Amino acid sequence: MATYRKFIFVCTGSDCKKNGCKTLLKEMGQLLKTDPHKGKWKIVKTKCMDFCKSGPVAVISNELIKKMEIGDLRGKL
Ligand code: FES
Repeated sequence: MATYRKFIFVCTGSDCKKNGCKTLLKEMGQLLKTDPHKGKWKIVKTKCMDFCKSGPVAVISNELIKKMEIGDLRGKL
C-alpha cells in the first residue's frame, strides 16, 4: 500500500467541470509525477463542495482554494 504525505481533494462536480477541473487535474497529475513530488501526493476527486460559483475548488492541507490554478499548487509544494 502506498504511503502518501499529503492529499489534495479536487471537486469534480458539474460546475467545477465547466470551470476547468479536468484540465487542472491533468496539470496536477503531471506536476506531481515529477521528482521530488513523485509518490508523495494523492489526488482525490470529490463530489460538489458547495462553492460552485468559485470553481474549480480544491482542498490542500485543510485549506480551501477557490478558482484554483496550477500555480496555487506549486506554491504549496
Ligand atoms: S461543483 Fe464544485 S463546488 Fe460545486
